[in-house]
Amino acid sequence: MIKLSYDVKKYRKDILELVTPDDTIIELGCHTGGTTKIMPKTCNIIAIDNSPESTSQMEKLTHVNFIKGDVRLHEILGEVFKQVQSCDILAIDLGGGYHPDTVFKVFYIWSSTFKPTHTIIRNRGLLEFMNTAQGSGEKYISQYGYLDSYHDSGIPPLIKEFDLWTPSLKM
Ligand SMILES: C[S@@+](CC[C@H](N)C(=O)[O-])C[C@H]1O[C@@H](n2cnc3c(N)ncnc32)[C@H](O)[C@@H]1O
Repeated sequence: MIKLSYDVKKYRKDILELVTPDDTIIELGCHTGGTTKIMPKTCNIIAIDNSPESTSQMEKLTHVNFIKGDVRLHEILGEVFKQVQSCDILAIDLGGGYHPDTVFKVFYIWSSTFKPTHTIIRNRGLLEFMNTAQGSGEKYISQYGYLDSYHDSGIPPLIKEFDLWTPSLKM
């Protein structure tokens, strides 16, 4: 299942409704652990964030494997892949208002690599797009947390587009 929200409370509720105690969870954009803390401590949790303030707070969560890094980078994907080759839950919150194209690309890369049973994404632009677009009625639907049409892609090569976009259009 793929769940999309903007309200952080809804994002957390979606995760709690889908998680089970033995799950392997990959959390992208954990910040200081607001959502990580509410996940069952029995889960195998790998949480990633690139903000300076995340490290000291995340290190307090001793049951969590925290990685400081940029989730757009191939080396970070590879570092996680050395630890787990699949996951039950992929949670993505790079900031609710973050560029939807980047969030979608991060979702595509990480979900096609780790094949989560469920992906939960927090992003306003993607939610607006989903609520607005009218589909053609063709039955392309995945039962999983990744897109069925990309399930055999494997680990993709370094995606060049990430180098071409800045995090903000404001200079
Ligand atoms: C809104 S916060 C996440 C809040 C968290 N999910 C919670 O519930 O408390 C978004 C986080 O995404 C992180 N982030 C944004 N882009 C990132 C990237 N490319 N790689 C790693 N972390 C990123 C930011 O540093 C920030 O801490």
